[in-house]
Amino acid sequence: MKVLIIGSGGREHAIAWKTAQSPLVNRIYCAPGNGGTYFENKCENISLNGIDELLKFAVKNSVDLTIVGPEIPLVEGIVDRFKEKGLKIFGPSREAAMLEGSKSYSKSFMDKYGVKTAWYRDFDNADEARNFLSDCDYPVVIKADGLAAGKGVVICNSFNEAEQTIDDFMIKDIFKGSGKRVIVEEFLEGVEASILSITDGKTIIPFLSAKDHKAIYEGNKGPNTGGMGVIAPNPYVTDEVLRSFNRDIMLPTLRGIQGEQMDYKGIIFFGIMITAKGVYLLEYNVRMGDPETQAVLPLMESDFIELILAALEDKLDSYNIKWKKAHSCCVVAASKGYPGKYETGFNITGIKDANNKIFIAGGKNNKDKLMTSGGRVLAATALGKTLEEAINNSYRDIERVEFNGIYFRRDIGEI
Ligand code: AMP
Ligand code: GLY
Repeated sequence: MKVLIIGSGGREHAIAWKTAQSPLVNRIYCAPGNGGTYFENKCENISLNGIDELLKFAVKNSVDLTIVGPEIPLVEGIVDRFKEKGLKIFGPSREAAMLEGSKSYSKSFMDKYGVKTAWYRDFDNADEARNFLSDCDYPVVIKADGLAAGKGVVICNSFNEAEQTIDDFMIKDIFKGSGKRVIVEEFLEGVEASILSITDGKTIIPFLSAKDHKAIYEGNKGPNTGGMGVIAPNPYVTDEVLRSFNRDIMLPTLRGIQGEQMDYKGIIFFGIMITAKGVYLLEYNVRMGDPETQAVLPLMESDFIELILAALEDKLDSYNIKWKKAHSCCVVAASKGYPGKYETGFNITGIKDANNKIFIAGGKNNKDKLMTSGGRVLAATALGKTLEEAINNSYRDIERVEFNGIYFRRDIGEI
């Protein structure tokens, strides 16, 4: 099979690496890929821009399967476009991708189908939002309705902060349309977990759970990033948490997918909060998490492509995903200054000295050399029989990697 993988991050490198292990696959096109996929077995990086070019390429090269990494093309309807041309593509339709593309839509979906989530109100009028916020308990959470590259959520501790956020989102329009509508939501206190899952629209199979570390500094301090490290499975996801997740979140979601007659054969990622009051759904993502994918896929024993084909053929009800009996830890190394301003273009060394896997995110190749090209540059992922062993293995590898301004958290998995 020829497989096309869309995206350029660490997630896509992990997908390409896992795809290359499938005996069903002999060729992988990464569009655009990165300095990691460039060196990966069976892989070729191609520079293509936008859905039209991707579609043309897939038709011309008789691509057998397309896997979409990031949310933007999904929300833009890439799956519908590929299917119109009779191409096999893994991901939700444009309509189903609204579960991530619009928080107002996804919250109303959760309410309609009884998915356990924080209370909320939505506003498209700034005065009405301010009015509501002048008379509510704090903290509250304000979220931009549309995609905002992970920056559209603010936890407000006072009316002043809330007013400022409403001003930024709705009046100054800092997200160029995405914050014209906002959600005001109950603040939930607890521990987060990421549960990536696969669905064919009739069955949802959860993957092993993962724990992201979003804050830039140790001790979960400082601004949120795309994710500075992940451990899997998530030690807080006990059997009891899983039972609540199944009953209160996953099954009602499946009823909703069916009730809305969504065309959904893809990944559904549940961002949950485990609280003293029970397990709540924070959000849906309609694609794999980054860096979660880099910790979860190495634990998957099953052939990822065989699994995707089972989803596309509506056969997940009889599919049993096999997992390694191990723990995994992924530590992200970022450029100095991230998630704020940072410089790029520095040589990366030490990758070949790693004992385990280094996934590249913001790194590009210049002939056979690797250099930094983004905020989150790479991640070291290692497995271990215990969580402690996985953590030690992964830190041993990241310590060997060098580039100017390298920064990583030293407490991934400890907190
Ligand atoms: P979201 O994009 O909705 O997952 O929000 C991004 C991050 O904001 C989450 O991963 C949480 O850390 C935080 N967050 C979102 N909603 C809430 C909430 N209702 N209560 C507390 N924290 C939240
Ligand atoms: N790591 C969180 C996300 O991919 O949304």
